Amino acid sequence: MNSIKNHGKLKYKIVLLRLDLNVPLKNGVITDYTRIDKILPIIKFLLNKNSKIIVISHIGRPKGKVNKDLSLKPICECLEKKINKSIKIISENVFKLKKNDFFKDPKDEIVFLENIRFYKEEEKNDLNFSKHLAELADLYVNDAFSCSHREHASVCTITNFLPSFAGLQLETEINALKKVTTEIEKPVTCIIGGSKISTKIGIIKNLIPKFDNILIIGGMANNILEYKGKQIGRSIKEKNCETIIKEIFETSNNYSCKIYYPEDVLVGKSINDKSQVKELNEIKKDDYILDVGPKTINKIKSIIEKSKTVLWNGPAGYFENPNFAKGSYEIAKSIIKKNKDKSIFSVVGGGDTIAVINQINAIKDFNFVSTAGGAFLEYLEGKELPGIKALN
Ligand code: 3PG
Repeated sequence: MNSIKNHGKLKYKIVLLRLDLNVPLKNGVITDYTRIDKILPIIKFLLNKNSKIIVISHIGRPKGKVNKDLSLKPICECLEKKINKSIKIISENVFKLKKNDFFKDPKDEIVFLENIRFYKEEEKNDLNFSKHLAELADLYVNDAFSCSHREHASVCTITNFLPSFAGLQLETEINALKKVTTEIEKPVTCIIGGSKISTKIGIIKNLIPKFDNILIIGGMANNILEYKGKQIGRSIKEKNCETIIKEIFETSNNYSCKIYYPEDVLVGKSINDKSQVKELNEIKKDDYILDVGPKTINKIKSIIEKSKTVLWNGPAGYFENPNFAKGSYEIAKSIIKKNKDKSIFSVVGGGDTIAVINQINAIKDFNFVSTAGGAFLEYLEGKELPGIKALN
C-alpha cells in the first residue's frame, strides 16, 4: 500500500479524495462530527502541498437515486467552517463533467461532488463510471477506511485508472487494528449491536473462533429472539436469517465462545415513546423493542468485568431517543470504569457507537476509537477489505 505521505509531487495535482462523510443527520443537522474531524489531517496535508482536491463521499443509502435529504451540503458547509475556506459542491450530473471544468478559478482549492451513491453505478462497482471519475483527476487517495469493505466504484475499480494511495486516517486505523488483533489479551469480549443487521449478522459466525464472548444487542438481537421463538412485535429485523443464526449457535458449540443475547428489553409503541421494561414473554404484537432491559445490562456488565479486551461495535438501542439510550450508556460506563484502572483494553467502532460515546463526552476514555463499523468487524474477521486490496 503506497502512502500519500511518501508522494513527493503533489503541487497543483488534482487529487480525487475518497472520504467517508456518512455522518449521522437529524432533519439535515449533523449530530456527530467525529468522522469530519478525523479527515481534517488529510485535507490540511493536501492543501499544504498545494494540491487541488475533489472530495468524493456517500451519505446514507439513496440506492442510486437523487435524494435531497441525503445531500452532502450540510457536511460541506461544516467543513468550510472547520478549515475556514470556501468549498464548492457540484450537484451537476457527474457524467457531464470534464477535468477542465474544475478549478478554473485559481483560488478554488477544494470541491465536493454530490453524494456518490446518487449514481447506481457506484454500488455496482461500474468500470466506466470509475474510469470517468478517474479522468477528472491526476491521482486517487482513499482515506475512507470505514467504507473500504464495500466493493464500490469510488473505493475499488477507480484504482485501476489512477495512481492510488492510502490516506492518513486509513493508515492510522489499519495500524491500530493490526496492533489490536496481534496483541489481543484474553478473555476477549465482542459486543455487536446497531441497526445494520444485514452487514453484521453474517460476520458473527466467523468471529466465534477468535473470541470468548459475543454479545448480540441492538437490532440484530431481534432476529435471534425471533429465532428462539419469542414475539418481537414490530421491531426491526432482517429477513431470511434463520440459517445463519442456526450456524452461529452450532459453530459456537465447537469453540469455547459463548453467545449472549437480551434476557429482557425496553419497548415502546413508537420510536418516540417512553420506555417500558418487558420480560421476553411479555412483548406485544404492537411493541417495538428499542433497548436492552436491566437484567441484560447487569449480565453485560458482569461479562465486561471479567474481560481483558473488549471490542464494541453498534449501540444497544435507539439511543437517539434518550428513553432508549440507557443500555448503550451503561455499556460505555462499565468499559470506562475498567479502563480507568487499566484492567481492560477497549476498542470501539462505528459511526453510531461513536455518537453514543460522544453524547457522554467519553471518546478519550477508550484505548482506540475507529470510525469504522462494518469495515471494523470485517477486518476483525481477518478478511482483506476490497478497498485495501485495491490499493495494494
Ligand atoms: C459506515 O457508516 O459504516 C460506512 O459509511 C458504510 O456505510 P454502508 O453500510 O451504508 O455501506
